[in-house]
This record gives sequence, C-alpha cells and structure tokens, in this order.
Amino acid sequence: MTWFSTLWASTIGKKIVMAVTGLILFGFVLGHMTGNLLVWAGPEAFNDYAAMLKGNPFLLWGTRLTLLAATPIHIVSAIQLVKLNAAARPQGYKKLGSSSSTFASKTMKYGGLWLLGFLVFHLLHYTVHIVEPAYSTAAYMLADQHNAYAMVLDGFGNQVLSGVYIFSMVFLCLHIDHGAWSLLQTLGFSHPKYNAMRRNAARAFAALLFIGFCSVPVGVLANLVPAVTP
Ligand code: HEM
Repeated sequence: MTWFSTLWASTIGKKIVMAVTGLILFGFVLGHMTGNLLVWAGPEAFNDYAAMLKGNPFLLWGTRLTLLAATPIHIVSAIQLVKLNAAARPQGYKKLGSSSSTFASKTMKYGGLWLLGFLVFHLLHYTVHIVEPAYSTAAYMLADQHNAYAMVLDGFGNQVLSGVYIFSMVFLCLHIDHGAWSLLQTLGFSHPKYNAMRRNAARAFAALLFIGFCSVPVGVLANLVPAVTP
C-alpha cells in the first residue's frame, strides 16, 4: 500500500482520493435512484428488483463493502483538505475567496454532515427496520419475497417522514452540484472553454437526482403510484 501512502501524503493526492470516492458514491446514488423509479412500475417490478438485489450476495455485499470503505475515506479526505486549506490560507483571504463561492459550495460541510445523519437514519428505517420493526414481520412478506413496495408505501405515506427525506434530498442535490463540479476539475476537466459546460453538467446531475429521488415520496403522498396494502 505504499502507493496509497504516497498519494495520501500530498494535497493533490487527497483531492484525487476524494474525487474517486465521490465518483463511487455518485455512481451508487445514481443507480439507487434509477432502481427506486421502479416504484412507478408497481409492486411486482419493485419487489422483483429488491429480491434480485438481495438474492445476489456478490452484488449486495460487493456494493455494501465498497460503500462502507468509500464513505469514511471520502469524509476523512474532506476533513483533512479543509484543515490543510485553512492552514495554508493567509489572514484576510477568506473574504476575497468567499466571493467566488456558490451557495452549494458553502453548504458542503454542514450539508455533508446532514447527509451522513440521513444515511444512518435511512439504513435504520429501510434496511435494519429499527425505526419500523413491523417491516421485518410476516405482514410485510409475500409468499416468497419481502414486500419492499408495501414498506415504501407505508413509510412515505407519513408526511413528516416524507418531508425529512425531501429536505435531505435538497442537501444531496447541493452536495452533488458542487461535488460533481469539483470532481470534474480534480480529474482534469478544467479549461476556461469547458467550465460552463462542467457547471451545467454538475447542475443537471444534481437536478436529475433530486427529481428522481423526490418522485417516490411525492408520488406516494399524492397517491400517484399504484396503491397496495400489505
Ligand atoms: C427519497 C430518496 C430515497 C428513497 C425513496 C430510498 C429508498 C430506499 C429503500 C426502499 C431501500 C431498501 C431497499 C430494500 O430493502 O429492498 C433503501 C436502501 C438503501 N438506501 Fe435509499 N433511498 C433514498 C435515498 C438514498 C440516498 C440519498 C442514499 C445515499 C446517500 C441512500 C442509500 C441507501 C443505502 C446504502 C441502502 C441500503 C442498501 C442495502 O441494503 O445494502 N438512499 N433505500
């Protein structure tokens, strides 16, 4: 692992580690959002999709372990880069620098923290079922598979909970907006000619994720997705 230690030792190395782990997390959220859209296709499609993921240990545990490694590495590199930037910043620089920052870039620290809290809650809610233990009972079982669709309908039927998810997706959207822009810069896509394109691409990804993720709670609350009770 000497190559990793060498990479980690430099600021640019930490930026690369942050960009690569960010890309992994981005790939996951994009895939997760796309899979969630199957709610719109009804219970059979969504439950079959959930069963396919759970029934494929290589895919399930490969994804879980990758996320389990990428998330803390992404956070630690972010903390270290913030510290390094603060140490390197001369007195009075902050005011000048902040004029070029966007609302999305200003929310990275607290928005990222909120997202971490959201993720813990989300896992306790829909994966471990601690928030709603009924999801692990026979009431949420079909003959041969978990009724994940009924679980989604029940969860997002609660307006407060849906509100928390939608609020969290605002932070996800802001995080992706600045993160994708910054990631593309670190990976070398930085040129005055293409900067506007890079900004628009980051905005488009963020908007796509926001609309796709929020369509589930909004669709459930507005009774737009097919209704089925367990
Ligand atoms: C409104 C937005 C979201 C909805 C509707 C949603 C829905 C779900 C559902 C239904 C499950 C459980 C699937 C099952 O057990 O069959 C799940 C699991 C999960 N979600 Fe989300 N999710 C949302 C946002 C997010 C975001 C933003 C992240 C990441 C930051 C995320 C990360 C995860 C993870 C890591 C799992 C666990 C997968 C596993 O079992 O290993 N979700 N989500």
